[in-house]
Amino acid sequence: MTRLVELEANGPRKLEPADIDDEKGDIAVCQCGLSDEFPFCDGSHRRTRDEDEGTTYVYADGERREVERVVTTDDADE
Ligand code: FES
Repeated sequence: MTRLVELEANGPRKLEPADIDDEKGDIAVCQCGLSDEFPFCDGSHRRTRDEDEGTTYVYADGERREVERVVTTDDADE
C-alpha cells in the first residue's frame, strides 16, 4: 500500500524530556503520517490496518479514499 498525507510543518521538531510518556516511559514517533499529535503517535495508525498492498490511499478531511494515481500540478502540464 501507499499512503498520501498532507503535512504542513516545514522544519524539525526537537524532542524534549517532557515528551516521554509518563506511563509507558517512552516516546512513540508517528510513522504513518496520520497522527493529530504529529510527530507523536496518537493511535491513528489503526486506520491503516486494513489497507491492501498495491492500493494507494489518500487521507483527507477525516476520510480515506482509494485512488488510481496521483497527479501533481507538474504532471498536469504534460
Ligand atoms: S504511527 Fe502514526 S499515529 Fe501511530
